[in-house]
Amino acid sequence: MANFGWLVFLLGSLQGSIAAPTSDAKATAAKPKPHILFLLADDLGWANIGFHRTSATTEDEKQGQLEVQTPTINQLVSEGVVLDRHYSYRICGPARSALLSGRLAPHVLVKNVAVTASNPEDPVSGFAGIPRNMTGMGAKVRAGGYKTHYTGKWDAGMATPQHTPYGRGFDSSFIYYQHANDYWNKKTGIQATGEITTCLNAFYDLMIENHTYRGPYKGAALTDACKDSTEPTPYCYEEKMFEEHSLQIINNHNTSDVEHPLFLFHAFHLLHTPLQVPKYYYEQIEKDVIQRGGKAFDSQNRRMLMAMTKYMDDTIKNLTAAFKAKGMWNNTLVVFTTDNGGPIYEPGSANNYPLRGGKYSDFEGGVRTTTFISGGYIPEARRGHVHNGIVSVADWYTIFSELAGVDPRDTQAEEANKWLKEQGLSLLAPVDGKAGQLDATLGGTAGPRDSEPLFLSGSALLEYPYKLVTGKQPYMVHTGPLYPNCSTIGSMQKGNGPDFIDFSVLEEKIDLGDSHYWRGDCEAGCLFNVEEDPSESIDLSHDPAQKDRLTRMISTLADFNKTLFVPERGETHVQACYSAMLNGGGHFGPFVDIAGYYSDPPRVIEDLSSKEKTQMAVMGALTFDSVKKVVQKYAPKILLGQLEKSCDKCCEDGSCDGQTQNLPDDLALVENITMHHPAMHHQAMHQEPEVATV
Ligand SMILES: *[C@@H]1O[C@H](CO)[C@@H](O)[C@H](O)[C@H]1NC(C)=O
Ligand SMILES: *[C@@H]1O[C@H](CO)[C@@H](O)[C@H](O)[C@H]1NC(C)=O
Ligand SMILES: *[C@@H]1O[C@H](CO)[C@@H](O)[C@H](O)[C@H]1NC(C)=O
Ligand SMILES: *[C@@H]1O[C@H](CO)[C@@H](O)[C@H](O)[C@H]1NC(C)=O
Ligand SMILES: *[C@@H]1O[C@H](CO)[C@@H](O)[C@H](O)[C@H]1NC(C)=O
Ligand SMILES: *[C@@H]1O[C@H](CO)[C@@H](O)[C@H](O)[C@H]1NC(C)=O
Ligand SMILES: *[C@@H]1O[C@H](CO)[C@@H](O)[C@H](O)[C@H]1NC(C)=O
Ligand SMILES: *[C@@H]1O[C@H](CO)[C@@H](O)[C@H](O)[C@H]1NC(C)=O
Repeated sequence: MANFGWLVFLLGSLQGSIAAPTSDAKATAAKPKPHILFLLADDLGWANIGFHRTSATTEDEKQGQLEVQTPTINQLVSEGVVLDRHYSYRICGPARSALLSGRLAPHVLVKNVAVTASNPEDPVSGFAGIPRNMTGMGAKVRAGGYKTHYTGKWDAGMATPQHTPYGRGFDSSFIYYQHANDYWNKKTGIQATGEITTCLNAFYDLMIENHTYRGPYKGAALTDACKDSTEPTPYCYEEKMFEEHSLQIINNHNTSDVEHPLFLFHAFHLLHTPLQVPKYYYEQIEKDVIQRGGKAFDSQNRRMLMAMTKYMDDTIKNLTAAFKAKGMWNNTLVVFTTDNGGPIYEPGSANNYPLRGGKYSDFEGGVRTTTFISGGYIPEARRGHVHNGIVSVADWYTIFSELAGVDPRDTQAEEANKWLKEQGLSLLAPVDGKAGQLDATLGGTAGPRDSEPLFLSGSALLEYPYKLVTGKQPYMVHTGPLYPNCSTIGSMQKGNGPDFIDFSVLEEKIDLGDSHYWRGDCEAGCLFNVEEDPSESIDLSHDPAQKDRLTRMISTLADFNKTLFVPERGETHVQACYSAMLNGGGHFGPFVDIAGYYSDPPRVIEDLSSKEKTQMAVMGALTFDSVKKVVQKYAPKILLGQLEKSCDKCCEDGSCDGQTQNLPDDLALVENITMHHPAMHHQAMHQEPEVATV
């Protein structure tokens, strides 16, 4: 077995405090501030929600309407206000970083970066997620007196204690850090994230933070033991664990303490891959559709996604019921949104009909995000209305700062800029969130963004009602009312996509070519009028009458693009994996400047199981470029083959009775490649990898 003497790493350099950022703002105390329940869905498609399915003309549309079951959400919408022009960013990490930092995604994070990345040259921005010295949403509302709690998916960075929910001002959190984990075993397998990382998908991703404990979740539910249970909501299903946690927070809230209202951020794992749901829901959704006069599902994944959607709806029913039971509802503001539009690749299986494209594209299907507000806080006169003002995902930070009575300005970031400027490093952008958005929404008046351009991404600009989309765009298609379907599955099986575009092995992206991603090219610019043509079907860029507009918008985008925030985030380092093994007890967590963060003392090599020791040896072996290259060469072939096989199943005859099969253990595959390749094996066992400090 490998010699572990070389496992002497980063822990020495760990210093710094974990004091949560503070705000200089003052609370104002007029009438009691509302409780806030923020519900963030993951990867929700425009057509995967009942209130976007109200008009159905064709048979297929009627079938689609029967399949999408969100009665609770529909009810909340009827008592609330729909924000019909809410824009986010095309993928999750940047969208969430925007939401939690109040910056437009192009000003905080433009692409997903591995949580284990770090660039020692830039201790402020040289990590994944929100730069360390920006003030988070939690800190703002807490400064206004709120009790702040975060449950569910984070995906806004984890490198230092300042990057975590606790560091961003949440009194407590129960979270996972990455884009997804497995709903059953809580590890970050290939099915969850579509990648094999430097840490070889070996770790759990489930953490707890509060004032008395910070470290791995240790309960018995780190298992897939309940996967075959016929109970509707077995506890080891991660969404159930999150629901129970949030219910406890609501139930423990001291309602007499009006100075300290509740801010609960519940970020669902649903509806992100892997497609996993308790058997009961998978059975029940088909029964319900048939009972209401519909047909059986013809795509196993579509059925799975609809079952997951119903599960999310039932969870919202329970969370809102808890607010009601505590007598908090009449002063509660509920916000519901999704990080980005639905992924229309397999196995993402969402549908943005009638919008074009999906997650990873700048078309409306990727960036126009289903959003509404509800709860007793909504004035009666506005209930059941639709707000048409343009709202950005970055605006919530300012909306909540206003509700909390604090100044949204980020003085901590301004302070850091003095140093960053001296060092010649990228400066942190000021908060982009607009003041007055909630007043406009509740008052039914024009909003602050309605008459100015919105910087959607480095390749797209909205100047309502016109929208410019440039460059290569994946998923440049219109899906139908029933998507995915047997035709989609047929296309996939013939190798014509839609494949997942972000597949990577040891941080190297695999690109299978345009046809696999239904990728097209808008080159210098496609131009749409999204008000008259919400599906972006008519490209106006060749219309002579639009020539000036097109030229002007291209130039506006180029100007905006000069403000794109692209600091050097750094490479992934195996030290982050070692830290997860020892400090995090086999869970992902902060790995830089962690002194005083983890409640438990770190494990030592002797504490590890023999499997864990092997895992560390393989991770270490991968620090050799030669070893890494061999894995990068062989692993994609094996994995893509596995992924395509396990993807979706066409069952026109209503034969989708089994759940999607599971892939083999990722680590075993990588181990096989490294350990059974004689030259590599020799090198791994006899050379000491370089252990750089992070
Ligand atoms: C913090 O989390 C730990 C572990 O779940 C729990 O036992 C403890 O009660 C929590 N403390 C607070 C103050 O919430
Ligand atoms: C709840 O808040 C009230 C008002 O601040 C306070 O008097 C009371 O002690 C609190 N109850 C608990 C259990 O902390
Ligand atoms: C909602 O709460 C009810 C009552 O406690 C429970 O039986 C059900 O399992 C919960 N639903 C979900 C989706 O957790
Ligand atoms: C909310 O309900 C409580 C108790 O029923 C009541 O005292 C309070 O005035 C209500 N608040 C509003 C804003 O209606
Ligand atoms: C950034 O935040 C860290 C942690 O709070 C702090 O130690 C450091 O001094 C800050 N850096 C700058 C440039 O403000
Ligand atoms: C914006 O900048 C990014 C990164 O430098 C570049 O990839 C993109 O093409 C630019 N977009 C435009 C419209 O110039
Ligand atoms: C089935 O999927 C294909 C793409 O694979 C799409 O073009 C078609 O519109 C879908 N059919 C329905 C009825 O939604
Ligand atoms: C790994 O290799 C061994 C020996 O060749 C084989 O028995 C095993 O099935 C392989 N495991 C996987 C997951 O490929």
